[in-house]
Amino acid sequence: MAEEAVLGYLENNEEISDSGNFAEVKGISHDELVNVIKSLNGFRLVDAQDIKREKWVLTNEGELYAKYGSPEVQLFLAVPPEGITREELQKIVASRLPDDIEEKLKSSMFKIGSTQAIKNKWIEMGKLKVSRKVQHVEDRVKELLVQIQAGEAVGSEDIDALKRRKLITPQTWKGYSVKKGPKYAPKRKKVATDLTRENLQRGEWKELEFKEYNFLAKGQPTEGGCLHPLLKVRRQIKMIFLQMGFEEMPTNNFVESSFWNFDALFQPQQHPARDSHDTFFLKEPATTRRLPEDYVARVKKIHESGGYGSRGYGYDWKREESDKNLLRTHTTAVSSRMLYALAQGGFAPKRYYSIDRVFRNEAVDRTHLAEFHQIEGLICDRGLTLGHLIGVLEDFFSRLGMSELKFKPAYNPYTEPSMEIFSYHEGLQKWVEVGNSGMFRPEMLLPMGLPQDVQVIAWGLSLERPTMILYGIDNIRDLFGHKVDLSLIKRNPICRIGL
Ligand code: PHE
Repeated sequence: MAEEAVLGYLENNEEISDSGNFAEVKGISHDELVNVIKSLNGFRLVDAQDIKREKWVLTNEGELYAKYGSPEVQLFLAVPPEGITREELQKIVASRLPDDIEEKLKSSMFKIGSTQAIKNKWIEMGKLKVSRKVQHVEDRVKELLVQIQAGEAVGSEDIDALKRRKLITPQTWKGYSVKKGPKYAPKRKKVATDLTRENLQRGEWKELEFKEYNFLAKGQPTEGGCLHPLLKVRRQIKMIFLQMGFEEMPTNNFVESSFWNFDALFQPQQHPARDSHDTFFLKEPATTRRLPEDYVARVKKIHESGGYGSRGYGYDWKREESDKNLLRTHTTAVSSRMLYALAQGGFAPKRYYSIDRVFRNEAVDRTHLAEFHQIEGLICDRGLTLGHLIGVLEDFFSRLGMSELKFKPAYNPYTEPSMEIFSYHEGLQKWVEVGNSGMFRPEMLLPMGLPQDVQVIAWGLSLERPTMILYGIDNIRDLFGHKVDLSLIKRNPICRIGL
């Protein structure tokens, strides 16, 4: 309807000089008209020029005065011919104010009203009494405000005065002047978007007008091609390991026996981590079927009475305990299998890594889940020292963007010495623990059959921790598990540039 009005009008007239007036005359909303003009202008049916006009609109305070009268008149009317005390006047003015006035404004009404009324020489404030100086006043302020509301012209002096009292404020009105465009037609032709078989058969293609391609239009956002942040960081860390010459260990067994998860790592059978409060044990199948018997015998011996210069723990080692199946509590279980295998095949120096899931029977909270992903790295070679471990860790973590590291002595049953790794976090402005590390004990390595002069340096960390830091996620349940918002994945592009 607005479109017909514009095109129809231009058929017989030079221009629509002001879209505001035009909308009013035609009885259409200006917003609707503007949309039509923009569209017609886009298709060059019309030529539209912006016009801007400053106009005055009432502030909230101005609206109130326009409705109820100015405070100076209110105040004047409250002064009886014989005069009144200030306190009483204040009370009357307050009691006459309408309810819908803001509290803040209410309390200032008396002050504004009296100041203006004195300035206008309407009243006099003596020591004891307030009295009238004139008998009759007119509410000029209210009149002016009502005129402005109605869009009527008001003199510049009056405008200045109202502006100073913050009763009106300027507003820019935007509209258009419209002329015929190069493609003007009294009616918009429907343009074809497709050339059909019928168009060709009937010869319509000769007359048809086709819609032009819009090469600037944006396409639909793609649904695919996104990876979960954990997968992205996993890939990034995998690349770091590969660049450092590490091979991946096979981690495709969540179920592990206590033997490989604990005993092979010289973790005594009374160790609290081996309690069902910390570890998930399997009911079915509850025990492992096969273990390398001669190696089991050497592990039993090292726990009970030691060997290779160690005194062992001096307790009764039980086979039933090591047969128990569990969900692996760390990927160090995989490392122990790999090192054992390496010792059987004839030793060669190796760099191994893995990134996979581990399970712990923990109370779930903002930063803990009962399952998470562990990153594990190890190097076995002759003549390795703690210095090598520190050097490798500094190389590894600096590739992740953590170049400032601190080490703190720690304890693991399978490493000596052991170190916790801390990194300075710029965002959090503090040192945060990022991993655990150490040199595997001879009590672990020698029963496997590794040569005496071989050392293994190793470290482990969670995948979740650096991912949460890198992506600014503070609740682990937003990152992993059934509460994860799919849009987290869709929001993050397939590559993450920088750290
Ligand atoms: N297994 C340790 C953990 O779960 C990590 C670790 C790996 C520590 C290798 C030292 C050496 O925290």
